Amino acid sequence: MIGEISVSPDRRSLGITAAQLIVDRLRAKLNSDRKATLVLSGGETPRLVYSEIPEIARRSDLDWNQVHLFWGDERSVGPDDPESNYRMAREALLGGIGIPGSNIHRIFGELPPATAAANYAGEIERFFGTRDGRLPVFDLVLLGLGVDGHIASLFPDGTAVQEKHLLVVPSGVASVRTERISLTLPVINNASGVFIIVSGLAKARILRTVLEGPDAALPAQRLRPGSVTWLVDAEAASLLKGAL
Ligand code: 6PG
Repeated sequence: MIGEISVSPDRRSLGITAAQLIVDRLRAKLNSDRKATLVLSGGETPRLVYSEIPEIARRSDLDWNQVHLFWGDERSVGPDDPESNYRMAREALLGGIGIPGSNIHRIFGELPPATAAANYAGEIERFFGTRDGRLPVFDLVLLGLGVDGHIASLFPDGTAVQEKHLLVVPSGVASVRTERISLTLPVINNASGVFIIVSGLAKARILRTVLEGPDAALPAQRLRPGSVTWLVDAEAASLLKGAL
């Protein structure tokens, strides 16, 4: 098994549990630092979690002035496009937390993918002061899991998952309609923590494969085990045989 796993009884409680763990992780970082970085994901399961965060953050007195938001990937569309991961976060999260605009580091999906990727990599390097080639250390990266084992926009049938040096790359594959821009595996695996949020029966088979084999070097199977926490509901976990 890769990392730790937490099973919630249903989708709604998964959303609440994941939101609380995210806020707890950010608060813990801010106990010892003035900044915390959170990388958001696209997808319906992450959206469910985002909608629970504002109230939990209010109750936990999380200071959003000290939190910086980034994205793990974006579709090659503008910020108001229905497909935009930024728009989804704006609707499900940003409107309810009063975070300064300067703390929001979105991917400019409206630009050509290669330009958007280079610009975003530059933004990350400026923020972390890592123009010298060192990898950034994000405090927490949120991911969903695709039924094909993709994470962010790193797909099994694409080349982006093989990238070993760049921080951000375009990622266009036949299995998705819209070209994407994605953080690369070296960046994701260099994070202090990774939460993968998985819900529903449709994900049960892929979750069993990723956690219990066979090892097909799927993107989700290439995560660094030390930092990964799987936050799943009972339906997604229903085919797991191992000790939970
Ligand atoms: C995206 C995400 C993608 C998503 C998974 C799971 O841009 O859509 O980066 O990796 O998280 O496909 O999505 P669901 O939770 O909606 O199944």
